[in-house]
Amino acid sequence: MALYGVIGDPIAHSMSPEMHNAAFQECGMDSAYVKFQVRKEQLSQAIDGIKALGIKGVNVTVPHKEHVMPLLDEIDPLAEAIGAVNTIVNENGKLIGYNTDGLGFVEGLKNIADEPLEDNSMLIIGAGGAAKAIYYSLASLGVKRIDVTNRTPLRAEKMIEACPFDLNSGFLSLEAAENSLDQYDVIIHTTSIGMFPHIEDSPLTIKELKEGCIVSDIIYNPLETALLKQANQKGARTQNGLDMFVYQGALSFEKWTGIFPPYSIMKNTVLQQLGGQHVNR
Ligand code: ATR
Repeated sequence: MALYGVIGDPIAHSMSPEMHNAAFQECGMDSAYVKFQVRKEQLSQAIDGIKALGIKGVNVTVPHKEHVMPLLDEIDPLAEAIGAVNTIVNENGKLIGYNTDGLGFVEGLKNIADEPLEDNSMLIIGAGGAAKAIYYSLASLGVKRIDVTNRTPLRAEKMIEACPFDLNSGFLSLEAAENSLDQYDVIIHTTSIGMFPHIEDSPLTIKELKEGCIVSDIIYNPLETALLKQANQKGARTQNGLDMFVYQGALSFEKWTGIFPPYSIMKNTVLQQLGGQHVNR
């Protein structure tokens, strides 16, 4: 049997085991995926354990995505640029770190966006870890214009400045962003504002939107945030964070096994768990 897992702290509510195990089962693979609660001070031992136990692959979640990097043998260039690893592949004892968070978002976006993605002008709300993964992944794929708005300007400016990919990018205050939402084909919300239980909160007020634009929120609890509700009322195409979550897992699965897993099985498994866990819908 091949063993996979996710390390984080806390980890009890991770939906990754059910999602990956459903895919392994569907593919008829003799594999299992489990969660490991790993405290910060034991991260290094846990990474040694991956090698010692022959665990084939691991997802990394909060709070270890950055600290795990110096403990690995090799880091993929995109993960290096993002400064965070969410996927480790054990290649015959060599641990390689990747980041599939941003690329997972891009895969989901491709399902609803107009192609080619590169020609869309985009706005990212937020400048934290999730924003950086999405921003750099979109930039690495050649999206030419991505502006950023954030409560703290310096954080956004640093993120823009440090981006190793060539693109047009500017910082906007939240107020300026509110007044120019109609400039964008795709608006991506990456902060936790509006997440359960604060479901009435929204990062900004939507005034005008460009016709046919997409508003995407990486939150999936609730499935329709206050921001997405507003966007729907204004006629936008909207997307919640479920696709990003499932695709980041699917891309990890593909890195480990060479097989792209059955996406809808994974998504339905997560939807079922959300239905059971969250009573706010
Ligand atoms: P993650 O890794 O999940 O992206 P993070 O790195 O803590 O989390 O980033 C949080 C993002 O949400 C940041 O853009 C943060 O804005 P600041 O850079 O100004 O801190 C934003 N954020 C979180 N709570 C917020 C709030 N109440 N109002 C506005 N922005 C908020």
